[in-house]
Amino acid sequence: MTNKRIFDIDRHNLQKAANLLQDGQLVSFPTETVYGLGADATNGQAVATIFAAKNRPSFNPLIIHLTSISDVEKYTELDETSRQLAEKFWPGPFTLILPVRKDAGLSELVTAGLDTVAVRIPNHPVAQELLKTCGRPLAAPSANKSGHISPTMASHVDQEFGQELSMILDGGPCSAGVESTIVQINGDKIHLLRPGSITPKELQEESGLDVLINSDADNIIAPGQMKSHYAPNAAMRLNVTDPFAEEAYLAFGNSSHGALNLSPSGDLKEAAANLFSMMRRLDEETTQTIAVAPIPMEGIGLAINDRLQRAAAPKEKKS
Ligand code: TXA
Ligand code: MG
Repeated sequence: MTNKRIFDIDRHNLQKAANLLQDGQLVSFPTETVYGLGADATNGQAVATIFAAKNRPSFNPLIIHLTSISDVEKYTELDETSRQLAEKFWPGPFTLILPVRKDAGLSELVTAGLDTVAVRIPNHPVAQELLKTCGRPLAAPSANKSGHISPTMASHVDQEFGQELSMILDGGPCSAGVESTIVQINGDKIHLLRPGSITPKELQEESGLDVLINSDADNIIAPGQMKSHYAPNAAMRLNVTDPFAEEAYLAFGNSSHGALNLSPSGDLKEAAANLFSMMRRLDEETTQTIAVAPIPMEGIGLAINDRLQRAAAPKEKKS
């Protein structure tokens, strides 16, 4: 290990991470989707440190991470449909927006003053062990500066932060590669607030309910779903089959162009797992434009296209 703040996974380091979290400090840990920047969700000062480290707008609420449905019920009101989806998709890359209990004891910064809270039970063994060892709900956004590409490796997290972060637990590359699917149940409808690897079809099949897709940026319900996000420094051009010579090309499926291919065999899950790390690599290699092959709008392709469109969107001026 060349960097002293990246730690291998063993009992000693998990305990050290849990101690730091209990002490109100930040620890980055792996989940199956992306690396999280974790803090004790009941400690307002610790949660404020997340917002400061990420330069995250304070109106953008966080997801809390827990290990069991009975713990979820300590913090939220779980309706029947949400419970059914929870039992099917947890632990996993799935986040539910639920009414927060008055006696939950969560920092108000976590919910940004909303009367709902985002909850997830991650399926990564390191995340699970850390949560159990620390015994606190962990608020954890993706461990990148606000608006940047999300990290899928410990080294990505290391590139994002300075001294504000002292510990990164290295669980290797994340298997899913895009952030969790976020849903909110409204009456007899499922609102998809952020596409991810749990697809609308799976949600519909499990519940029998219609899934409404809120991809319309004028109709933002997840407050952090900014138009511009996951942004590399280079410009992006999407749905490109024949890139210009000066462009760095990100291919998909059978292609004679480009050194990097999200999935030569055209497997969308593999493409999702590779997306952010390949975008980072191309961004390091080019000062020009990253051109990206068309990605089919099916299954997790919905989430990949969502992230690509935000990465390609003009950057908003920061206020
Ligand atoms: O896969 C993931 O979900 C990762 C890993 C670390 O768990 N986390 C993650 O967190 O992507 P973050 O903070 O980057 O994204 C959380 C999203 C934001 O778009 C936020 O606006 C939305 O969840 N959100 C949080 N609380 C909400 C609420 N009460 N209502 C609607 N949206 C909410
Ligand atoms: Mg994020």
